[in-house]
This record gives sequence, structure tokens and C-alpha cells, in this order.
Amino acid sequence: MIVIYDSKTGNVDRFVKKLNLECYKVVPQLKVNKPFVLITYTTGFGQAPNTTLEFLESNFVFLRGVASSGNQNWGKSYAKAADIVSKQYSVPVILKFELSGTEEDINKFILEVRNIV
Ligand SMILES: Cc1cc2nc3c(=O)[nH]c(=O)nc-3n(C[C@H](O)[C@H](O)[C@H](O)COP(=O)(O)O)c2cc1C
Repeated sequence: MIVIYDSKTGNVDRFVKKLNLECYKVVPQLKVNKPFVLITYTTGFGQAPNTTLEFLESNFVFLRGVASSGNQNWGKSYAKAADIVSKQYSVPVILKFELSGTEEDINKFILEVRNIV
């Protein structure tokens, strides 16, 4: 299972560096032809980033699960990008984590990915 991720201010970048998995960052025109899990972040008031949504428009077929970084200060909008993607593409939310995540978050993410495989 590969990991595709999106990051604007570097928190998700830092999270994926702690995973010992094959990870690729979302860039325009990225095309993925095998199963992947997505890690994104939440922006606006509980929105998924446009870069993530555009990537998914042409790559949702192999999407197997989604995680989002966020900040609990946002209350009900906490890491809501994961819920948005989950609902739109009928895939499980595998993790919501704050900023660049804790060691516990990393371990949970790895376990969840193993369960999907
Ligand atoms: C303008 C802005 C809006 C945000 N909105 C939310 C939000 O609605 N919900 C949330 O959980 N986090 C929100 N955040 C926090 C980010 O999701 C969090 O900092 C995340 O770790 C950013 O990931 P990145 O550094 O990989 O881009 C917001 C941050 C910014 C700067």
C-alpha cells in the first residue's frame, strides 16, 4: 500500500517522514495506478484542500482510506477533511491527528494501513 499526501505548511510532510512507507506528495497531474491511502489536512472552516479534491477527481478509483491532520482548536471542524473525502468516496477514515502527529498516531496509522491490506 502506498501513501499519497498533501501538505501546505509542512505538518503532514513531517508526519509522513516518520512512516516507513512509500509516500508521494500530491502535485498537479499526479496519476496513481495502484491502491493508496490518502493523508491530507483540513483548511478553511472544515474544508478539504482543493489540491486534494482535484487529485481525487482523477485518482479516486484506487483510494482505500483517508486520514487528516487538523487542530482541535477548530472544534467541530477538527480534521473534517477526512469526513468529507470519506463520505464522497465511501472509504474509511483511518485517522485524525493534530498537526504533525504523535508517536501513538504514527503507530495507529501503520496498524490501520496493515488492516486495509
Ligand atoms: C487557514 C487555516 C484554516 C484551518 N482550518 C482548520 C479546520 O477547519 N479544522 C482543523 O482541524 N484544522 C484547521 N487548520 C489547521 C491545519 O489543518 C493544521 O495546521 C494542519 O496540520 C496543516 O497541515 P500542513 O502543515 O501539512 O499543511 C487550519 C489551518 C489554517 C492555516
